[in-house]
Amino acid sequence: MKINFVELAPPKTGTVVVGVHEKSKLSASAKLVDGLANGTLRRAIRNSKFTGKSGEMLSVIAPAGLSVTRVILTGFGKGFNELESQNLGGNLIAYLEQTGEEVAGVLVDEGVGSPSASNIALGARLRSYRFDKYRSKEQKDKNPCLVALTLHVKDAVKERRSFTTLNKVAEGVALTRDLVSEPPNVLFPKSFAAEVRKLSRLGIKVDVLGERKMRELRMRTLLAVGQGSQHESQLAVMYWNGAPKSNAPIAFVGKGVCFDSGGLSLKPAGAMEKMKWDMGGAGVVTGLMKSLAGRKAKVNAVGVIGLVENMPSGGAIRPGDIIKSMSGQTVEVLNTDAEGRLVLADALWYTQSRFKPKFMVDLATLTGAMIASLGHEFAGVFSNNDNLTDNLIAAGSATGERLWRLPLDKAYDKKLDCEIADMKNIGGPDAGAITAAQFLQRFVNDVPWAHLDIAGVTWSNKDAPTVPKGGTGFGVRLLDRLVRDNYEN
Ligand code: BES
Ligand code: MN
Ligand code: ZN
Repeated sequence: MKINFVELAPPKTGTVVVGVHEKSKLSASAKLVDGLANGTLRRAIRNSKFTGKSGEMLSVIAPAGLSVTRVILTGFGKGFNELESQNLGGNLIAYLEQTGEEVAGVLVDEGVGSPSASNIALGARLRSYRFDKYRSKEQKDKNPCLVALTLHVKDAVKERRSFTTLNKVAEGVALTRDLVSEPPNVLFPKSFAAEVRKLSRLGIKVDVLGERKMRELRMRTLLAVGQGSQHESQLAVMYWNGAPKSNAPIAFVGKGVCFDSGGLSLKPAGAMEKMKWDMGGAGVVTGLMKSLAGRKAKVNAVGVIGLVENMPSGGAIRPGDIIKSMSGQTVEVLNTDAEGRLVLADALWYTQSRFKPKFMVDLATLTGAMIASLGHEFAGVFSNNDNLTDNLIAAGSATGERLWRLPLDKAYDKKLDCEIADMKNIGGPDAGAITAAQFLQRFVNDVPWAHLDIAGVTWSNKDAPTVPKGGTGFGVRLLDRLVRDNYEN
């Protein structure tokens, strides 16, 4: 879909979209079109339930005399913040695709109660995402497809410029969604790392460590997870340097389990079905780095992703094995399905010791218990730093990728204590998302750190205004916003 910005004037073809404020008050553009249509819009409103509330849509076939095919009235409600403008853009795309229309123009007036055109465009872009590369052409041709969306605005140059930046974030989100959607026979540690290397085109420096290098670094808990797989484990490191060298970087760490069978503690079929997206955290880190580089963020950022496949085999780790992590602490692996924390243990330790970052945020589809706690609406945040947490929660509210803080506490940490090693990799049946976070905390060495358990929000079974069902990209917009609001000078 092409997105254009042009000067404010009614389009001549396709569908035209105009806004109506609450209590059926026509926007300036709606009045103009109503005039051209001899009052048809007002009549349509009078004879329907439409009153201009936010989210309402009313489609009116254009009367003879107008060259466009139809006019869609959309409720402007009480007005818009950025997120609400994005949601409007997303809802419009879904509505327009239902009509089968190929070109549409939205008239966006200036002033109180009007949405932001560049944010409508962002929402439209995010909602129009599709992952259909594996569908045959005949199937694809059945998809409704809007070819062009034009935003008619007072200052096209300004809105276009602002959209150009926002669109870089959308490109990061799309990359994350692609990675999460790819099947596990296509996306495995090495092919994932190859995708990461492609980011060097944007000025991101990429290092990939293979098993030999990781063995030298004694990343044995990460390696242990991949040892049952035919695929070699990888650790990919991305650097974006947008600030002076002397500035300490901020760091993002992702769980990249390209497929989680559970290992010898095998998952049942129903649970395993979803486990191609157990690399969601790594997908977000990769998409985020693309966004930051794309919009040339004035920040130094590193992204570290641990890429493994968790499989059962004669070479796999066994329940009962004791592994020494890069930090020197030992772990008794009692359940091979609690593998994400083993990957992150080494990835976090490596990140803090190598980069001395201002802070680390890790993202992981870490626990089913997280879904039991918060469902699919909020992701959980766990942190040793209140300021970082507040900033994350604020960025989440601003982008609609919402976070809810859960506690860390000695009493939970104790559940990991072990008779014969420094810790167990499971904390028992209660508070599973928290004990998993406590496990991670043992590997952060007092660096300001936050852990986002995104198990419930990485994949969605229903459409939302700016997120079609499937891989959501949850976390990219949130962390891009965290950086934009707090760490760029
Ligand atoms: N990848 C899963 C967590 C998960 C489950 C993510 C469902 C998304 C949807 C993780 O590796 C896992 O298997 N966790 C176990 C931990 C348990 C063995 C302590 C879980 O949550 O059941
Ligand atoms: Mn698992
Ligand atoms: Zn997992």
